[in-house]
Amino acid sequence: MRAQFITIEGQDGAGKSTNMAFIKSFLESRNIPVYTTREPGGTKLGEQLREILLYGTDVNCDDMTELLLMFASRSQHLNEVIYPRLKAGTWVVCDRFTDATYAYQGAGRGVCFDHIEVLENLVQKQFRPILTFVLDIPLDVARSRGASDHGDRFEKQLDPFKLRVREYYLSLCHEQSDRVKYIDASLDIEQVQAQITQQLEMLLEIVDAQ
Ligand code: TMP
Repeated sequence: MRAQFITIEGQDGAGKSTNMAFIKSFLESRNIPVYTTREPGGTKLGEQLREILLYGTDVNCDDMTELLLMFASRSQHLNEVIYPRLKAGTWVVCDRFTDATYAYQGAGRGVCFDHIEVLENLVQKQFRPILTFVLDIPLDVARSRGASDHGDRFEKQLDPFKLRVREYYLSLCHEQSDRVKYIDASLDIEQVQAQITQQLEMLLEIVDAQ
């Protein structure tokens, strides 16, 4: 069975970490080797860029620079970690990927989507995830579950920014519904994981048949 690349997206407080662990254990229960990673980050360079991007309060970083650093981290991550793992037959599950760039730098910051697309094609060529989960949760529910408004540079953004990010993800679920699966993360954990299981079962059937 050919190794596949799966991503998970969603706002802070939507339960990405818990559900990443769930996806990994689900696939491993089917004897599929899985490597989990994250963006920005996933390599030594990427983790250093992550520090700057998320916590660099004393550095100026304009919107275009932020975009380029996201793709710098991604380029290193793809070549050093993701492509070699996939080639060796290990599935890769990544906490955020390029959809986050469209959501945060595009919809959030207002960077032109065409510029993001140019970089996406340059850095990734035709490579895209086969399956993406968008964990969706209203801002107030996320806050009630501990989402912070005072953490990293993105968590500190005001509500209109966060709402634009959420709207973008919702539109993506409609526009790319074959790949991007809406998960109602405001439900309780069993129901969330039942939705994820259903999508993974469908993916395995498709991959098995290939
Ligand atoms: P997280 O790992 O806790 O989700 O934090 C990563 C943050 O980085 C999150 O707020 C979204 C942001 N981000 C972008 O703005 N653009 C990107 O391309 C990626 C991968 C993440």
